[in-house]
Amino acid sequence: MLTLKIHHIGYLVKKINAAIQSFEILGYRILQETIYDDIRKVDICFMEKDGYCIELVSPVSEDSVVYGLLKKYKNSPYHICYETKDFEADYRFLTANGFIAIDEPTPAPALQNRNVAFLTSPSMGMIELLVSSPS
Ligand code: NI
Repeated sequence: MLTLKIHHIGYLVKKINAAIQSFEILGYRILQETIYDDIRKVDICFMEKDGYCIELVSPVSEDSVVYGLLKKYKNSPYHICYETKDFEADYRFLTANGFIAIDEPTPAPALQNRNVAFLTSPSMGMIELLVSSPS
């Protein structure tokens, strides 16, 4: 049984401050100010509206992991992140059921250094798995 719970929707943006302003016009508020992720070479800002959390992701250099994606997709949502209580089991279940690992689990500086991993399904695109916070 999967333990997944939706955590955020990841949104690629070219200019993070301009994107924040646009989301503020829509009524979103900043949950966590912009943080630089030096592993992925991206700026990240979390915002919230109506209980929904979005993650704005903006590459800061051409060697960023999402630089190519932004070129291809422009400003757009590109993943849903699921928090998991049992990372190992859920990861194994998904890869046994058609999801393909894109990277190794790696700490996310913008999420208390919790491990995240990206997977893709040929029929619905990319998801992110996030180790749930200890509580
Ligand atoms: Ni994300």
